[in-house]
Amino acid sequence: MSGPNTNFDPVEVAALDPQVIDDAVTAALDAVARAVSLDELKALRSAHSGDRSALALANREIGALPPSAKAEAGKRVGQARGRVNQAFVARQGELEAERDERILTEEAVDVTLPTGRRPLGRRHPIELMSQRIADLFVGLGWEIAEGPEIEAEWFNFDALNFDADHPARQMQDTFYVDPPDGGLVLRTHTSPVQARTLLDRGVPVYIAAIGRVFRTDELDATHMPAFHQVEGLAVDEGITMAHLKGTLDRLATELFGDGISTRLRPSFFPFTEPSAEIDLRCFVCRGEDPDCRTCKGTGWIEWGGCGMVNRNVLTACGVDPDRFTGFAFGMGIDRALMFRTGVSDMRDMIEGDVRFDAQFGLEI
Ligand code: DAH
Repeated sequence: MSGPNTNFDPVEVAALDPQVIDDAVTAALDAVARAVSLDELKALRSAHSGDRSALALANREIGALPPSAKAEAGKRVGQARGRVNQAFVARQGELEAERDERILTEEAVDVTLPTGRRPLGRRHPIELMSQRIADLFVGLGWEIAEGPEIEAEWFNFDALNFDADHPARQMQDTFYVDPPDGGLVLRTHTSPVQARTLLDRGVPVYIAAIGRVFRTDELDATHMPAFHQVEGLAVDEGITMAHLKGTLDRLATELFGDGISTRLRPSFFPFTEPSAEIDLRCFVCRGEDPDCRTCKGTGWIEWGGCGMVNRNVLTACGVDPDRFTGFAFGMGIDRALMFRTGVSDMRDMIEGDVRFDAQFGLEI
């Protein structure tokens, strides 16, 4: 077995030849200088200082050298690898800084640009007003009742004391559901909910019914074939017209502001006796401007109908009219919204343009 090769000259080991090492360093530095991207630099780094690079090979040869030669060769290879590594690290720093700079410019956000976000929808102002009315009545301890939009003619007319040939039947222009003698109509008012509720719930009863109603009106600025009404019904022992007036004034104040009251004018409806038209104090001039355009100088705005529930209606619904009395009222919600918002064309309310809802659909 031979001893260690103490005379070994590292210059003679090809990989450790100073020229070879210098060339490897020069090639690596050239490559580093040429690299223009971080990916490229990564690939070059593995070629010039990775495990299979000339310098790594040289490094491995050192282990086989005699101790006397190791120091010198180690220093030379170590310095060479150090320079190459430093060059890579420095270039990497430069390229990273360039990349960061580029990203900052390329990904800059102009916060003043209009956004592509989809605009928010809004709740329809009629829906909001309906809910406000419902809240008021629930607050008074009343219940909310509902009825179908396709209604039995019996509930829409007969139960409400409209005789078969009563002229009042023509008061409301009715959509009949096919076949015309099938006994079904699109309800012309919310009053049939009165009869339904009396039959369903019995008395005493305090209900408000809010919903859509239909009449064969041409669509124009002040008429719609489909619109909304609120109906109120209170039947109990000892109910008088004073209760009706108090309730209507409370509703008027809630919707139109403090000091806005109502006045009743004698009228006729088959389902109430006595009956009255409800006028609302003009909430624009409060009766003080003879030139007011909202009330045409009268100081009052027509709002709906009301009265004491007709004995015949109570009887038709199984309620003893000698023991119980009640009041009822009904008014248009779309009309109330027109007053409140100053919208002069009802058609705007049904077009479904979200800009209308955004303008009038905000209630605080
Ligand atoms: N239903 C009537 C209409 O649509 C309004 C009305 C009048 C409702 C008198 C009532 C009432 O409850 O008592 O014209």
